[in-house]
Amino acid sequence: MNRTRPTTRMGKPKPQNPELDLPHHADDQANAWSGSAADYANEFLDPFRDSIENPLLGFLQEIDDEAAKSMTVADLGCGTGPLLPHLVDRFGTVIALDFAEGMLDACRKRLGPKRSAKVRYLNRAMHELDDLKVSVDVAAAVNSLVMPDPRVVDTTLRNIFEALKPGGRFVGVVPSVDAIHHHSLMLWDAYLDQGYSLEESERLVATHMEHSLYDFAFGKFEFGAIRQKFWQPDELAFKLRKAGFENVEMVKLEYPWDESLAGYKILKNHPKTWDWTFKAFRTV
Ligand SMILES: C[S@@+](CC[C@H](N)C(=O)[O-])C[C@H]1O[C@@H](n2cnc3c(N)ncnc32)[C@H](O)[C@@H]1O
Repeated sequence: MNRTRPTTRMGKPKPQNPELDLPHHADDQANAWSGSAADYANEFLDPFRDSIENPLLGFLQEIDDEAAKSMTVADLGCGTGPLLPHLVDRFGTVIALDFAEGMLDACRKRLGPKRSAKVRYLNRAMHELDDLKVSVDVAAAVNSLVMPDPRVVDTTLRNIFEALKPGGRFVGVVPSVDAIHHHSLMLWDAYLDQGYSLEESERLVATHMEHSLYDFAFGKFEFGAIRQKFWQPDELAFKLRKAGFENVEMVKLEYPWDESLAGYKILKNHPKTWDWTFKAFRTV
């Protein structure tokens, strides 16, 4: 392979600003997410909608019904709470955590007062779990491991690991950057088959897939004031193991081509797009 490796020409950079100000990192994003709570359903993909087979629900079903009744489950970055009804109906204690107060208000509305009374709401960032050490049986994070600073992600994963009891499990979904690449390539194929020129098809793909909002090299996505991490599956598996998790499993959550996805009308015969579902354990 004839590929230059620019890093070999670089000097060794000196570390700068080694202090990580976690609360500062969380504040602006908490406000940004809170602002999106009211219009959330129109702007974000719902991995729990009826047309989707979500492996995460299967992962939760692996837990015996009777055992679940005495377990504590934490929905970390619960958003407007699409997972909460499943959890409230099965688990003994349910924690709903989100740093965006507007999201927790939406959860309370979704659940209604009776079911909501069964939930302990925590308005804080996902890395602030010191008071929950070794107390959680199941942690879930659905499209909420999205802070774009990898140092925040490492701290968050380590603290989730420590919040779990030995034998506890961590399940979730992450937005996948490899699927954005796949979706773009499928759409490019479809436009070319429709007779568009090379230049025009590339322009259409870049526009419809909003390439200008992504940083593909670092797996970042910026949508208004919200900045999100998009993941490669191997990257997440590595980060989970780095935090201490074992028996890591990654499974695709496939999305059917429907009106929520760019170019869906001409993609019906193309392989689907996806997010990544994961399952990991604290074994010790
Ligand atoms: C894309 S939404 C997903 C919400 C929900 N889990 C769902 O499946 O619809 C991401 C949510 O995670 C929350 N979030 C993101 N990073 C967070 C963090 N570091 N601490 C707490 N909440 C966070 C946001 O406020 C938002 O409600």
